[in-house]
Amino acid sequence: MAEPIDAILAIHNAFRNDLERIDAAALDSARGMEGLGAIIERFRFFNEVLVWHANGEELAVFPVLENVAPLVAEAYVKDHRCLDSAFDTLSKSYSARDLSQIARATAAFRFHLNIHLDKEDTHLYRIFKERVSLPEQGKAVGVMSKAIPQERYPEFVAWMFPLIGHDDRENMIRIMQIVMPAPAFTGVEELIKKAIGSDWAELMRRIPTL
Ligand SMILES: [Fe+2]
Repeated sequence: MAEPIDAILAIHNAFRNDLERIDAAALDSARGMEGLGAIIERFRFFNEVLVWHANGEELAVFPVLENVAPLVAEAYVKDHRCLDSAFDTLSKSYSARDLSQIARATAAFRFHLNIHLDKEDTHLYRIFKERVSLPEQGKAVGVMSKAIPQERYPEFVAWMFPLIGHDDRENMIRIMQIVMPAPAFTGVEELIKKAIGSDWAELMRRIPTL
């Protein structure tokens, strides 16, 4: 049974996987491999989603957590600002077309992101899950999902679904089925099909209502 928090854990996995690929491409590029610009340049959209996500957490999750576990979220807000500065460093290196600096910047960004997400998964969201009621968790995740501008939703789905495995995809879809009005879900269903191609068959096997 998918719980609201599973949607957040799935997005965290998409972040990890995307930045891992971007970082690997940046390293190969610094070593002289050509044709990797399109992969490295994904850092821009990656960061847009990361900022929507962090804003959503700060708006919807951290204040709720503050009520049940005071002072925990503060450290995670500091992490978010460090992620902002990791992006700025990468963006400046990219503008300067300095391949070594780009690779250093993606490595630093990835290192910090992975530690941050692992702490959130195993510490912050563990506390959230244990101390916040399920309806309140659902409400927070609902507010978070609205941090994504509606007109960018197709891009978000096309970015996220190829980056995650079947379990995360299944959880995301089950949660979307519950929280979205039917016509909106039908639209998203089409976007997911387009994003993952033949993998859709596995999701139909797992979710008979699709
Ligand atoms: Fe976060």
